[in-house]
Amino acid sequence: MSEKSTQLSPEKALLEAKGKNYKLPIYDGTLGPDVIDVRSLSGAGTFTYDPGFVSTAACESKITFIDGENGILLYRGYPISELAAHSDYMEVCYLLMNGELPNQTEKDTFIATIKNHTMVHDQMATFFKGFRRDAHPMAIMVGVVGALSAFYHDSLDIKNPEHREIAAFRLVAKMPTIAAMCYNYSIGLPFMFPLNRLSYAGNFIHMMFDTPCDEPREPNPVIEKAMDRIFMLHADHEQNASTSTVRMAGSSGANPFACIAAGIAALWGPAHGGANEAVVNMLEDIGDVSNIPKYVARAKDKDDDFRLMGFGHRVYKNYDPRAKVMRETCHEVLKELGNGNDRLFETALELERIALEDEYFIAKKLYPNVDFYSGIILRAIGIPSNMFTVIFALSRCVGWISHWNEMIGDPQLRIARPRQLYTGPVQREYVPITKR
Ligand code: SDX
Repeated sequence: MSEKSTQLSPEKALLEAKGKNYKLPIYDGTLGPDVIDVRSLSGAGTFTYDPGFVSTAACESKITFIDGENGILLYRGYPISELAAHSDYMEVCYLLMNGELPNQTEKDTFIATIKNHTMVHDQMATFFKGFRRDAHPMAIMVGVVGALSAFYHDSLDIKNPEHREIAAFRLVAKMPTIAAMCYNYSIGLPFMFPLNRLSYAGNFIHMMFDTPCDEPREPNPVIEKAMDRIFMLHADHEQNASTSTVRMAGSSGANPFACIAAGIAALWGPAHGGANEAVVNMLEDIGDVSNIPKYVARAKDKDDDFRLMGFGHRVYKNYDPRAKVMRETCHEVLKELGNGNDRLFETALELERIALEDEYFIAKKLYPNVDFYSGIILRAIGIPSNMFTVIFALSRCVGWISHWNEMIGDPQLRIARPRQLYTGPVQREYVPITKR
């Protein structure tokens, strides 16, 4: 625990358990709940119990702060609403990785460095050939990103800050290239080389939708800004499941490419990053606003495991601040593309209105989250739903690698190794099969 940013509270947490009394240190962060340091309990033969880590701070971090009750999200202290309005993804990447906003020279140098690494080793294209064309792009992405460690032996010494930095640059730079390769492979089109004169978002749109037969088109500025904003809104989010997975993998000393591949795998689930794809599939299933009451009733039915995708959050018990920005962006994109009365968007708006007035959702504090509108935007741009989580992974890579760097750079790093409450059989003698 780095004392310089945490305050050892003068108070102690007093715990009495099974006739023993414990005085546990309390640490105060700069924002949010304080923490009780329970590390000494293991020596006393007692563990804390917190499946799903609802009440557990697994680490100290300076990167992102979330206030779920008040719908606040800060990247290195800057509100997401201000960054979405005034910044861009490259600046946010610099901020998350370095802790401060760059000046113009620092920003230009950072962008130039990223552009130096947008291409992938030519032999990486052969990895794709091992996949069926109809493989889910996330399955391809997990494999290909993990395979990056087979190419970059020159930057795998995680104790070397320069190696950590070049690995971070390579990952942020190459994720759009690999994501677009996943898409082009799935539709049988050739891979597109990056076009470094374009912006990060513009280059991604180029690699996704241009072909070698066309002159590269200038991206539509409204679509380019919407894509950049989607990248920004998904860039980081504290100790979510995939970021915690990256930290867990990194704590063993695994190389950064393997750790990011582990994060991609964790993000894929529909309860996490896979929700944006599940939202659009759900809206398609609902079909017409007249069917909404039936689906809301199913979401409330304890005997039905159906949930409203894009609603609810482990931390936000108020409106996800990213969802507000995403809804505005949705309006802008649909207006620009001339399908302002997009059936799916209409259904989403009506579903949101009904759910926010429903006692069940109000009582359980279930609000739309970042995934509720992002899929509608991506679909309107022409991106298939099986690519939505790939784009989430692309965006979140900078958050993952920033947390990885923060953890590996911590001199107090220990391998993450949770314990358990064992409820299995007590020790017993082996019984030969002839006597069972
Ligand atoms: C992301 O952690 C992050 O920061 C994630 C993320 C990020 O940027 O990294 O923000 C990205 O993953 C956003 C979440 C995307 N997932 C979805 O939209 C899937 C639908 N939402 C849920 O499955 C759920 O809300 C979770 C997984 C998001 C949160 O689950 P929790 O915190 O474990 O809450 P819970 O499952 O214990 O639910 C509490 C209650 C339950 O009812 P009771 O058992 O108390 O009676 O609320 C109900 C749940 O049944 N509930 C829902 C619901 N979500 C929770 N009921 C209907 N529809 C829903 N969507």
